[in-house]
Amino acid sequence: MCGIVGYVGNKENSVRVLIDGLKKLEYRGYDSAGIAFISNGKLNIQKEKGELVNLQNRVNLDKKLDIGIGHTRWATHGKSNALNAHPHRVGKFTIVHNGIIENYNELKEELKKEGYDFNSETDTEVLCSLIDKLYKEDNNILNVINKLKNEIKGTYAVGIMCDDYPDQLYAVKNKSPLIIGVGDNENYIASDVPAILDKTRKYIVLEDGDYAKLTNSEIKLYHDGKNKDYKVELSQLDASSVDKQGYPHYMLKEIHEQPEVFKKTVNPYLSEGIETLILKMPDFTKYSKIRIVACGSATHAGLVGKQMIEKFANVEVQVDTASEFRYSKNFLKEDELVIVISQSGETIDTLEALLKAKKEGVDTLGIINAKDSAIARESKMVLYTEAGKEIAVATTKAYSAQVALLCLIALNLSYSKNLITKDGIKDILKDVRNLPSYMEELLQNTEEYKNIAKSIKDYNDIFFIGRGVDYALAMEGSLKLKEISYTHSEAYAAGELKHGTISLIDEGTPVIGIVTDETIASKTISNIKEVKSRGANVIYVTSRKDEKDNDFYDKKVIIPKVNDLLQPLLTVIPLQMISYELAKLKGCSIDKPKNLAKSVTVE
Ligand code: G6P
Repeated sequence: MCGIVGYVGNKENSVRVLIDGLKKLEYRGYDSAGIAFISNGKLNIQKEKGELVNLQNRVNLDKKLDIGIGHTRWATHGKSNALNAHPHRVGKFTIVHNGIIENYNELKEELKKEGYDFNSETDTEVLCSLIDKLYKEDNNILNVINKLKNEIKGTYAVGIMCDDYPDQLYAVKNKSPLIIGVGDNENYIASDVPAILDKTRKYIVLEDGDYAKLTNSEIKLYHDGKNKDYKVELSQLDASSVDKQGYPHYMLKEIHEQPEVFKKTVNPYLSEGIETLILKMPDFTKYSKIRIVACGSATHAGLVGKQMIEKFANVEVQVDTASEFRYSKNFLKEDELVIVISQSGETIDTLEALLKAKKEGVDTLGIINAKDSAIARESKMVLYTEAGKEIAVATTKAYSAQVALLCLIALNLSYSKNLITKDGIKDILKDVRNLPSYMEELLQNTEEYKNIAKSIKDYNDIFFIGRGVDYALAMEGSLKLKEISYTHSEAYAAGELKHGTISLIDEGTPVIGIVTDETIASKTISNIKEVKSRGANVIYVTSRKDEKDNDFYDKKVIIPKVNDLLQPLLTVIPLQMISYELAKLKGCSIDKPKNLAKSVTVE
């Protein structure tokens, strides 16, 4: 987590360059921020607790700097205060760091013996002291940086300034992401391309173990003590995707982008009908079982995928949380396929789970949003979701793009195995065409979502129930609610509630009951009646339009009925919107919920 930027060049008001860059990286963490820069030979360091705006209000944005680094933090070691905020400075070095130095305690003890004192609780100050110590032993910065890999265990992307070379910026990367932005008589480092997108589209991706020296006119890349050639890429990212474009929050903008994202993700696979789907996707028929591994909402997308692949293609699917998969006996068989799902492509648990599966010799497929990310590079096969840049920490459009691709995998397998009729395919393709307008329709019902939010606002516990695919959606709805509205919520398999949790249902307790799967609708409705008769305030989210029985719910949200394969892509929209409206009503920080970060690069 954490975002880092660095700049070397001659721009006027270049303090603004650092702050602008950090603004685009706040999704990586936002509990404190800091910058360090050299201007007219003088070093300045400014750090503030809290979101970047606190720092922005304290610095002179118009000041010209020659070289500078900046950081926005998601605390791992020590509280979020100005002392622990980056940059850290020891001896001649000032650094910003993203990642975790796992052996920092051992290093700290050794460095203490050498006379180093520590002011902060961070692993980064230890790293900075180590760099200073190594530099005292060998007066060559590049040698020092190269030696770090032998001394440090853990993950790191680091921006380094040294007093002896006030016109040079150094950078090193291992497992945490880092790119170099290539400008005209100026150069940058950053955790991610959007940080520099309004300055340059040209960038270089650093690989693990790479380190670099940047001046305003030159970029030198090294690996293991040797010069390394590099390729300059041109970002195709749309700069407008990192703007709110009139929406009050990125999350709302991203929820509204879902119809477009669905088209962009799905259409390339269906351009010439179902045959394109077979041509453009790997042959899944050779696998006896599919294992899906991911974190957070990506796991929930995987759970929807499991329902679809099992139902439509009759292939067993097992879903595991990556942080558990990493350390479990997984009993992988060589004819199984491991699918990892990740928006960022850099979630460390998902990446390590992928590497473990590769080591065990099975085929791997990544469903990834961020092109050229570590997980995309490591996966044997990749299918990209076309969600564009997602800024709000709580995922919406990337989640539904993941679900869309999983539905396509189910369709591909179902067709390849001759399990679907021509008419079945026709129906699905028709619904694919209509889905974006159904999504738009659902997005119009703002007043309905606001009213529901009002009716549940004063309750501390909210339950989501459903069966089968609706249970998988309940989990995502509940997570969204917790993440952004700070309301405790649980998702339950509807039939399981009576085995304990129903004791929590009192007069007025909000229960969101989801019913879209016709085959088990009557069972879920019975469970909803059980909570209703115990006083629950039932919000019934359903695709069942003409229902005679109407005494088991307080509010009903109707979703257009489409083929079961595509239904989840509609069901999730009211759930996202209810969470959004509730968080808004409660005055929460919607795009940057407390304690969270979008890109989780620590385990
Ligand atoms: C974080 C985000 C979640 C996301 C999860 C996995 O916790 O806040 O929204 O689902 O990481 O992220 P990934 O980038 O791997 O999809």
